[in-house]
Amino acid sequence: MIDLRSDTFTLPSKDMMEAILNAKLGDDVWGEDPTTIELEALAAKKLGKEAGLLVTSGTQGNLVANMTHVNRGEGIILEAESHIYMYESGGFSQIIGAHPYLVKGQNGLMDPKDVENYFAQPYNVHWSPTKHLCVENTHNRGGGRVIPLDNINTLAKIAKEHEGTVHMDGARIFNVSVATGIPASKLVEKVDSVQFCLSKGLGCPVGSMIVGSEEFIHLARRNRRTVGGGLRQSGIISAPGIYALNNMVDRLAEDHKHAKMLEKTLSEVPNLKIKPVDTNIVIADTSETPWTASEILSKFNEKGVKISQMGDYLFRMVTYFGISTEDIENVLLKIPEVFQ
Ligand SMILES: Cc1ncc(COP(=O)(O)O)c(C=O)c1O
Repeated sequence: MIDLRSDTFTLPSKDMMEAILNAKLGDDVWGEDPTTIELEALAAKKLGKEAGLLVTSGTQGNLVANMTHVNRGEGIILEAESHIYMYESGGFSQIIGAHPYLVKGQNGLMDPKDVENYFAQPYNVHWSPTKHLCVENTHNRGGGRVIPLDNINTLAKIAKEHEGTVHMDGARIFNVSVATGIPASKLVEKVDSVQFCLSKGLGCPVGSMIVGSEEFIHLARRNRRTVGGGLRQSGIISAPGIYALNNMVDRLAEDHKHAKMLEKTLSEVPNLKIKPVDTNIVIADTSETPWTASEILSKFNEKGVKISQMGDYLFRMVTYFGISTEDIENVLLKIPEVFQ
């Protein structure tokens, strides 16, 4: 089977396993795990922020960051197809007690005017007070889309003008950096906090990071504890994180090349619409072909290729460490057979 369902299927390499075996450990709730302390400092440095915090997952990282920015009853401005809104079990509403104000983007790209409308609402008994925005880069449902830096910076400027804050769900921020050649620190310079995943393209088995100011991370550390994310010998998770940040970033270019190969062959299928491919995610729309997404899923599955479904007529293929050029060439051969 060639599994293109998600880059969360990456398995740790031998060198990464070696790093786990050699990790120096302590109790991180007591602030005494040296490997986690090292990873948090490294993550902060790479993202150009003052401090970092290890969390167990992207979902936990986004929740803890938003808990730190927003109080119960307040609003959060979210892109309507963002991961936080759609796929994190509504944690912002059930745990924080925050209310979503949604902006419909174009493949994840929000019009600054729509965002400003929410920030600019004067006191009104009908509205939740709203001072916080989330952005997502790359945008998953947008097809791994790179949200341009000037858009992020414009949104951050609007937030600042209204004394608001911005959190970036940067689960795949290093894919943006590799695709654009812009350092990750520059991509997140104007936002207040970032969550990025170690366990996707970077190939770690577990873990995500939050970065932000010293004060923000100090408060987030307690919120992490509240949601059960205070871990003991967390160096087991941090050691592969350090390995990944030092060794697994540049190779993301190979995943992007593989996604482009898929895009090229899929674009030869009559009436199949493909979202622009910027990074390692390919999303295609079958609504003008004779097939539903689930039919395409079954056809690929019969041919030894696993893909995922994003809606009645949307399917997704994701490239990652462990999917070789040979695997991709095999999939390319199956595409004309599936769409016939
Ligand atoms: C954009 C985005 N944000 C956050 C997450 C959540 O990460 P996790 O599955 O580690 O909770 C994902 C996972 O796919 C994602 O794609």
